[in-house]
Amino acid sequence: MYQEIDLDKIDISAEPPIEEPDRQYYYMRKCRERVREFEQKYGRLPKFCVVNMGCQMNARDSEKLTGILTQIGYIEEEKEARADFVIFNTCTVRENANMRVYGHLGQLSPVKKKRSQMKIALCGCMMQEPEVVEKLKKSYRLVDLIFGTHNIYKFAELLYTCLESERMVIDIWKDTDHIVEDLPSERKFSFKSGVNVMFGCNNFCSYCIVPYVRGRERSREPEAIIREIKRLVSDGVTEVMLLGQNVNSYGKTLANPCTFAKLLRKIEEIEGLERIRFMTSHPKDLSDELIEVMKNSRKICSHLHLPVQSGSTAILKKMNRKYTKEQYLNLVRKLREAVPDISLTTDIIVGFPGETEEDFEETLDVVRKVRYDSAFTFLYSKRTGTPAAAMQDQIPQDIVKRRFDRLLAEVQAISAQVCARHTGKVLPVLVESVNDHDPSLVTGRLSSNLLVHFPGDQSLIGTIVDVKLDECKGFYYLGTQSR
Ligand code: SAH
Ligand code: SF4
Ligand code: F3S
Repeated sequence: MYQEIDLDKIDISAEPPIEEPDRQYYYMRKCRERVREFEQKYGRLPKFCVVNMGCQMNARDSEKLTGILTQIGYIEEEKEARADFVIFNTCTVRENANMRVYGHLGQLSPVKKKRSQMKIALCGCMMQEPEVVEKLKKSYRLVDLIFGTHNIYKFAELLYTCLESERMVIDIWKDTDHIVEDLPSERKFSFKSGVNVMFGCNNFCSYCIVPYVRGRERSREPEAIIREIKRLVSDGVTEVMLLGQNVNSYGKTLANPCTFAKLLRKIEEIEGLERIRFMTSHPKDLSDELIEVMKNSRKICSHLHLPVQSGSTAILKKMNRKYTKEQYLNLVRKLREAVPDISLTTDIIVGFPGETEEDFEETLDVVRKVRYDSAFTFLYSKRTGTPAAAMQDQIPQDIVKRRFDRLLAEVQAISAQVCARHTGKVLPVLVESVNDHDPSLVTGRLSSNLLVHFPGDQSLIGTIVDVKLDECKGFYYLGTQSR
């Protein structure tokens, strides 16, 4: 495993190995030489800044980029403009995610003109779109390196090529069936970590670009996942978040198929691991076996993110979601029977093509019936290449905006009531940090994922403590440690 590899022992006078991850360690060693040269020239180590712009899966990828840069000898820098190597890990799920990238590049342009050693890289989902790469090639010559989601494991090699080259380096793959294990990664939190269980998505919801930019579904072997979690636990992690676009279809493509429920049972047995979370769950694949495992588990958190997208069966059909409003509500009922206090959260899209006032009312009806702890609400965004983008009846922006505001008001009013249901109880909280605004407080999370602030100090970070929930402030609690 990677911690045991001493980069300095790698012979870089030999040809690079063909096998992965050995090949990447070879290039890390070569990059380290460049870092030493930089240090001699500038009298300091080079600094890097990884800007994560996407979902939890992207965040996990960013930790892998950070891990490699740290191994090579770069120092982390928070400000993009002060870094010698800036990498944007992009998202393209909605149009505004793309706009942000161009905005950042625009700001860096004058900075880079003054700092010749600065290198700018772009990776992630947006780079899998050929029009984007064309646009960058034409109008954003300040970019030095572009790669996509499928070859991110080659980052060390690509970085080396970029450091050696004066020209824009571009390497995008259309797809891959490869999963490379055991590369370095640097966690943002010492006590919790995301763990990929699968990559890609085969669902092709008609509005969504993810299957096109993340490729086909690939699951990791259960043994590789367990090995990674055991290693994380021995390194101080108590909570894992299992990540995949649709974790409920985990394992179907493995040579020895394994269900997600079975994987959870195995993870539950890992000693020292206290909390298990996972996302995202697609309602169409959420099995009774999984509900049973959640019911009997001591470690799976009492929270499920279950994106509904719309409450209208007609719209759900056009979205290619493969469930009806009734099936979704039935699933919620089964979950609540099995895990009575479970917190449910969701994603909702407003203004999907053809959405009528009646369809929208159905969505409001689901929100009122389910009573979510919270919901991420999105304005429908047209993504070129998806089936929904070619649908005739796109909804005018002003109507979408008005529906969106109504939905948000409903979601927030319900959320404030639902979140307050624990007031007065004593519940375990995993402490995450000293409070940003008041250093006499610490901030942690309930099993339900709600935030709690209470008096405490740094020493509590990473521990699970019982806290009396004195007062609910809408989306968080104020509490006191219960002794
Ligand atoms: N795999 C996850 C979601 C990934 S994208 C799942 O299936 O639940 C996160 C959320 O972005 C989606 O749940 C959806 O609500 C939203 N989204 C995806 N494409 C969108 C689009 N074209 N316009 C608006 N919201 C979108
Ligand atoms: Fe997109 Fe649907 Fe796949 Fe989620 S399940 S990533 S919404 S296609
Ligand atoms: Fe965005 Fe890619 Fe995630 S498009 S939502 S970063 S999978």
